[in-house]
Amino acid sequence: MSGHGTPIPMSSHAVAGLKGTANVPGDKSISHRSLILGAMCVGETTITGLLEGEDVLDTANAMRAMGAEVTRDDDGTWHVYGVGVGGFAEPDQVVDCGNSGTGVRLIMGAMATSPITATFTGDASLNSRPMARVTDPLALFGAQAVGRAGGRLPMTIVGARDPIPVRYTVPVPSAQVKSALLLAGLNARGQTVVTEREATRDHTERMLAGFGATITTEVTNDGRVITLTGQPELRPQTIAVPRDPSSAAFPVCAAVITEGSDVLVPNIGLNPTRAGLFTTLREMGADLTYENQREEGGEPVADLRARFSPDLKGIEVPPDRAASMIDEYPVLSVVAAFAKGRTVMRGVKELRVKESDRIDAMATGLRACGVTVEDGEDWWIVEGRGFGDVPGGATCASHLDHRIAMSFMVLGMAANAPVSVDDGSPIATSFPIFEDLMTGLGADIRRA
Ligand code: S3P
Repeated sequence: MSGHGTPIPMSSHAVAGLKGTANVPGDKSISHRSLILGAMCVGETTITGLLEGEDVLDTANAMRAMGAEVTRDDDGTWHVYGVGVGGFAEPDQVVDCGNSGTGVRLIMGAMATSPITATFTGDASLNSRPMARVTDPLALFGAQAVGRAGGRLPMTIVGARDPIPVRYTVPVPSAQVKSALLLAGLNARGQTVVTEREATRDHTERMLAGFGATITTEVTNDGRVITLTGQPELRPQTIAVPRDPSSAAFPVCAAVITEGSDVLVPNIGLNPTRAGLFTTLREMGADLTYENQREEGGEPVADLRARFSPDLKGIEVPPDRAASMIDEYPVLSVVAAFAKGRTVMRGVKELRVKESDRIDAMATGLRACGVTVEDGEDWWIVEGRGFGDVPGGATCASHLDHRIAMSFMVLGMAANAPVSVDDGSPIATSFPIFEDLMTGLGADIRRA
């Protein structure tokens, strides 16, 4: 698979222990939404703590292409001067969303009820991912989509001129689909009702309420029923983006499996729709504590302290927890290799349509590193070998997937022989400071 640039082969070597404080970057999900919602209100939205990874920078460029002014101060504060609900301008070039499924799906939703036409593309990974899950329900608003076979990018969306509100039950557990529909619903007169059977991350709902939209969530036997009243006057906001629990996962997991480690990861959001990994690690026996628990901006936040945990045990991860840790299964599978006993992960079909087929990518690399993995369509099982008994020593393919590349780097920190990836460049999409941050804690990551 080819990406944007030159591949960066990397290797990770065993270390004596990770120590220190890991200030991970801003939350990717909230960063995308801050830019998009900022672009959908009239006036200035100010954002601090924005993740300056490639995915989010691509979304900033897309908002500029659609008429918003997006600027950055030298101190890293961002300003978005938005165009208002329904006010997007037609981009005069193809919009390139790079590697980002969240970026492209949310932006397609946001523009689908504006009278403009836009063509979207991405890298080889994004252009192989399914878009019909978003464009099928966007058609109900009156938008049209023409893409490649199988609903793949590049794809052109013709926004609805006279959008009608929609009632829709999302058939897959996906915050991206839910969010695309809610953003589309903003410019449809009347109430758009989106039902999700399983709770997925709820940042869009929280942020829409914060921007002044009328939005309610009712928990029913059918799932969460979210009702949004269209055509609100969104009010610009001042947003402090919390740090990303999905990025925190890497130093936390690395500390848990690396002898002598003691790492503090401050200010991590513990929104229950995101924090499933930390619950799972604790159930496996990880020495992971929440310090200084507090509320910030309506979200539960804590400083995470992770220490080396030699007696991890494999567990069965409850399938109903999957949505709350969907991005964390790759690095969990690494921790599972160092546990005693099998870790069983079920109900995770969505992992097959992420930036890569994450079950296949991790299973192949783990097997090459001497770990037994079984897998089926929506499940996989890692046979833990216990601490000190994971061979490593292979070069694994990252498949243009940042989380696969970082997971194998974590594996190398505690395996008996170094672990390499063919291309670490995708790490810059979500965690551009990963190498520096991990090296600062004591990791030994080398570029070939
Ligand atoms: C995201 C939702 C999830 C997640 C992705 C970010 C979001 O994708 O994997 O990294 O910000 O809404 P799905 O909605 O496809 O599960």
